[in-house]
Amino acid sequence: MVLPFEKQYRERYYQLLDEVFASNFWSDGKMTRTFEEKFEEFTGLYSCAVTSGGAGLLSILEYVNVRGKEVIVPANTFWATPQAAKKAGAKVVYADCNKEDLCMSYQDMVSKVTSETKAVIVVHIGGYIAFEIEKIAKFCAEHKIALIEDCAHAHGAQWNGRTAGSYGLAGSYSFYATKTMPLGEGGMIVSRDKDLITWMKKFRNYGKEVIDGRFVTYPMTEGFNYRINEFTAALGIVQIEHLLVILDWKRSLAQKFDQIFDNRVYLPEGMQSGYYKYIVFDQNLSEETGKVFNDTDFGNEIEGLKLDLPNSYWVAKHHKCAPIYYGWDKAQLSVEEIRDFLIIGR
Ligand SMILES: Cc1ncc(COP(=O)(O)O)c(C=O)c1O
Repeated sequence: MVLPFEKQYRERYYQLLDEVFASNFWSDGKMTRTFEEKFEEFTGLYSCAVTSGGAGLLSILEYVNVRGKEVIVPANTFWATPQAAKKAGAKVVYADCNKEDLCMSYQDMVSKVTSETKAVIVVHIGGYIAFEIEKIAKFCAEHKIALIEDCAHAHGAQWNGRTAGSYGLAGSYSFYATKTMPLGEGGMIVSRDKDLITWMKKFRNYGKEVIDGRFVTYPMTEGFNYRINEFTAALGIVQIEHLLVILDWKRSLAQKFDQIFDNRVYLPEGMQSGYYKYIVFDQNLSEETGKVFNDTDFGNEIEGLKLDLPNSYWVAKHHKCAPIYYGWDKAQLSVEEIRDFLIIGR
């Protein structure tokens, strides 16, 4: 399988690379700013580009300052989520998920809150928004707990016009090679809070503020290097322009899948998925892209902790993903043809 990166996008990328070489800025330049502006237009949120989704999560956790405190994360996620909290010095507390959306359960999250809880990280699994995000956001706001959104899967996710990353304090997108918007590597911190993003732009740069390519101040001691380079940012500009094409392609394939699969994740009214994954339950498929997460991926399993998380273990056992990666070679077939191909034993 070759990831499609069509000719016109390659040509646009080469043209931007020429601009990078001509500018003499290989980092901290115009491409980074333009990429951030375009991402802001797309999500409606202030944006700060960083080296990875994990670096984005870690930066947000450092901003909140979770050292010595508890951070609630779902068990059903990639190790990046709990690991970011651990690297930021927190004690990780694992919460269960719902069977309907595979995302954090409000009820279980609330039951895990203590006086030491400083943050909750919700993961928008699979490309849509966690179904209980509004309740979780309200609870966190009332209890002065920082809500962080792991948006690594959520490019294009919307609920009544609200994008992933707009519910909590801040969110982090990943542009890792397999994601809906791949750059190879990269991440984007998003927030409604402009001051938080100003802080992030210093934090990613050893605390130095850069304005128009010039370091102007040294106002912060806690920063590190999470800068994205101009070559990756240039690719980001092309891919954010490409993203609508990718999303349309995935959404029209999802419409076909919706007619084939009854036992699947059903999106609530007003929700749009970016279809990082298409999740079905208890279905034998002739071709699949595995599971979003296996139980062996759970953070508590990696830490060797046997915990009572019934829904997480249930979904790990019962779900799998139909092939919805951009460029799947059967996507143009009819619903009938895809059904005949995918469903074993018809
Ligand atoms: C849920 C989740 N969070 C965070 C990450 C980390 O992103 P990155 O690889 O860009 O650090 C990933 C995947 O890579 C992920 O699937």
